[in-house]
Amino acid sequence: MSSVTRSLLAASIAAISVSVVAQGNKFPQVPLNDKRFEYNQLPYKVDTDVGLERGVQYGYNICNSTTTGAQSKCQTAIINSIDDFCLWGPPDPDSLVGNTEGEAVAWCTDPSHGTRTIPPGALQGVQFMKTPDYIQVVGFIDQTKINMRSDDYGGEMDPHGADLRGNPMGGLLYSKAWSSGGDFKQVIQWHNFMGANFFCLKACDPSKPNDRKFCEHIFDRIGCAYNAPNKAQNGTFESCMGDNQDFPGVYTQNGQVMTYTQPPEELGVIATMPYQPKVPASSQCTQYQSQTLYAKLGTVSTSASASAGKPTGSGSGSGLGGGTQTGTGQRAQQTGGAVGVRVGVGMVVLGFVGVFLLA
Ligand SMILES: *[C@@H]1O[C@H](CO)[C@@H](O)[C@H](O)[C@H]1NC(C)=O
Ligand SMILES: *[C@@H]1O[C@H](CO)[C@@H](O)[C@H](O)[C@H]1NC(C)=O
Repeated sequence: MSSVTRSLLAASIAAISVSVVAQGNKFPQVPLNDKRFEYNQLPYKVDTDVGLERGVQYGYNICNSTTTGAQSKCQTAIINSIDDFCLWGPPDPDSLVGNTEGEAVAWCTDPSHGTRTIPPGALQGVQFMKTPDYIQVVGFIDQTKINMRSDDYGGEMDPHGADLRGNPMGGLLYSKAWSSGGDFKQVIQWHNFMGANFFCLKACDPSKPNDRKFCEHIFDRIGCAYNAPNKAQNGTFESCMGDNQDFPGVYTQNGQVMTYTQPPEELGVIATMPYQPKVPASSQCTQYQSQTLYAKLGTVSTSASASAGKPTGSGSGSGLGGGTQTGTGQRAQQTGGAVGVRVGVGMVVLGFVGVFLLA
């Protein structure tokens, strides 16, 4: 073999192995969930991997007064209290969470975090709760105001994801809830379900041993009702103390502790659930007026004909994926990122196709 032939051969073998590596290459060097940063020492982007399947981090993590506003790509979220929290939402209007979870940006109630702000009037009822192991904010939202399609049953954002880069990729969450000195602590385990005009965001106390279990990320199809059981009321804004929930997916039946197994997407719609989640007791609830809580967001414009004309859905019957209180399988069609499958409304369609194929 001539040396030219030999080096050509070597080159093509190298090219083949590079393309094989590139194709199967979706995992980062360090999973997002293993990365730790002080809030005041954040890098511009925490996801520094290049050449992976899902591309590069959409936004950035250093967020300040120059990044505040409607175009913000801030991916550092905050949860402190009922009047100071963020939710993950799509960067562009009319999006499905299932298609954009990797690029979600922070939408906050306080403009001081360098993020987008949740438009006035979007929050329709909010319950904040502090328990021994986590803080949680759940509520009703006009999701079209944070770029979600009105009919989106939504999905789950969390710092894991099928490729361990998180949804959103590079997304971080911080809180002052557990520090007496008022400094931000990185929340290591959290989940945020958005959909069907409902949301829940649970941030688990990083100093507690069960933070990963309370903020479990594998039940991405069963929504807030099962991942963050609550009694939030539409129209009510309250902050409470509470007991811990059961770990998501864990329940007690006839005295036996059981663990739910979420069926794979291919099996179609989850029609029934074997259990009703237990809503833990709450106490010391303080109620507020939303105008007072969210004064920094401004007020709803009275000429808001756009909002008057919004398709709101009657809330009757089908799929309130975000997790209102009614309980069973229908509403449980929450979708999203944790297991990395694109679902949303599409899943229902696939379900029907499946039925046709079987018939
Ligand atoms: C503000 O944030 C932007 C975007 O992350 C960053 O480039 C800039 O350095 C920050 N400014 C300060 C003063 O930290
Ligand atoms: C919550 O209340 C608002 C205002 O009455 C209503 O428009 C909205 O549809 C309700 N949301 C849900 C999910 O029922």
